[in-house]
Amino acid sequence: MNQIIQTSQCIIGDSILEISYIIASLFFVFGLKMLSHPDKARRGNLISAFGMGLAIVTTITLHKMNGEPIGNIPLILIAIAIGTVIGWTIALKVKMTAMPQLVSLFNGMGGAAAALISLMEFPHIKPELIAEYGMANGHVLAILLGVMIGSVSFAGSMIAFGKLDGRIGDIRAPWLRYLNIGLLVFLLCIIVFIMVTGTSTEATAPYVYTLFTLALVYGVFFVMPIGGADMPVVISLLNSFTGVAAAMGGFLYNNQAMLTGGILVGSAGTILTVLMCNAMNRSLTNVIIGAFGGQAASVDKVAGAIKEITLSDTAVLLSYSHKVVIVPGYGLAVAQAQHLCHELDKLLEDKGVEVLYAIHPVAGRMPGHMNVLLAEADVPYEKLIEMDEINPDLPNTDVVIIIGANDVVNPAAEDDPGSPIYGMPIIKAYEAKNVVVMKRGMGKGYAAIENHLFYNDKTRMLFGDAKATLQKLVSEVKSL
Ligand code: TAP
Repeated sequence: MNQIIQTSQCIIGDSILEISYIIASLFFVFGLKMLSHPDKARRGNLISAFGMGLAIVTTITLHKMNGEPIGNIPLILIAIAIGTVIGWTIALKVKMTAMPQLVSLFNGMGGAAAALISLMEFPHIKPELIAEYGMANGHVLAILLGVMIGSVSFAGSMIAFGKLDGRIGDIRAPWLRYLNIGLLVFLLCIIVFIMVTGTSTEATAPYVYTLFTLALVYGVFFVMPIGGADMPVVISLLNSFTGVAAAMGGFLYNNQAMLTGGILVGSAGTILTVLMCNAMNRSLTNVIIGAFGGQAASVDKVAGAIKEITLSDTAVLLSYSHKVVIVPGYGLAVAQAQHLCHELDKLLEDKGVEVLYAIHPVAGRMPGHMNVLLAEADVPYEKLIEMDEINPDLPNTDVVIIIGANDVVNPAAEDDPGSPIYGMPIIKAYEAKNVVVMKRGMGKGYAAIENHLFYNDKTRMLFGDAKATLQKLVSEVKSL
């Protein structure tokens, strides 16, 4: 009788676990969908986090392995507590402008976790499975891909973190491209070799550790040469790698929540990578072998002189225009001047000026950075116009006012084949009737190259911190 009760409890527990995974997966899907709009993004994030929390709690309490509940619960809880405190503290302290570094760090941790799961599970592959199918089966393939992709994602994300944080510079050399192709082919050969010739997990363990080590090396070398304006593409690619590696773990454990979560991250990251590649006019193959942008630095000597404009002249120019386009960039986020920017835009609209925002896909330091920043200041979404849509309008625009942007308006992307940003589409600010550039000095942008636009005859520089300058400009416009 007791046994019957135990068996039925076990079946009920398994069913609740499965149902909780389905519910968690639904929460992931709805949460992700809500992330596509700034108004709902915060709620979407919470909904997905709730799904993840549910999956963790039910796994710890209900999961059984060979009829036994999972052990080491105190250790698991301690690890969760430590991770939560570290993650919570970092997330509270991080500045908005340092979010990409944080995302890279978190992404790397996901990759490392997926690689470690696969490494740990490899010795536990059932000998019966190997006896029946050899090493060439889906289970072994999922483990080996988990090791490889997770390690690449971890090492690559750590290098990306260092680069975004300004701790690591670019290393560019033509031989790196060949080294990366060689490494990638070698990694795939190791996987095939293990699956075709392997007889037991003990005999193949050294090859698995070689795969792990070389995947880490590849992760370092493929991100190392990428720099300038191309980091966003790599970040989203690494994101998709982590998703795929996590999905391998889900497949391994037959865990729907992990599988769905991994597939969602993997596919969302892949779609974003393809969109970024299109937006940046880059090829996906080149990203994977770490060959990006021009190898030579652009000629940094610029002919011509810069011309400044006063606050009062800027206020007059803007107030008596028909159409003004604001190009926000990283500097606007650094200065946290989005609210003042919106105030200026409302003042100008009250004076009958049409004001729009031109949004470049990689402006700032993370995908959608400008959308999030301006949504924070309640700028209506309809006023944010994508680069491709606004460019044809710029010749009819009286003033383009660039606030803390640089690379995304740099004409070198169109006319300097030696430039690392050559080929990247830009907001064609130079086509407007007048250009006002608001920045602190002649500092370069993320790609660290000169910008000829600042020396253009139509361009006037309004130097100063974006927040302080906008504050004064708002007062000037009010007083007119
Ligand atoms: P950037 O080219 O980085 O230029 C920002 C400019 O803002 C700088 O030239 C700086 O000049 C100015 N600035 C900094 N602080 C300021 C302040 N407090 N007030 C006023 N101006 C300030 O920015 P962008 O045009 O937005 O381009 C983004 C770049 O980052 C691209 O190269 C992109 O590829 C790269 N990137 C993007 C992402 C994503 S996903 N969006 C991720 C990684 C890298 P001063 O020093 O003279 O003020």
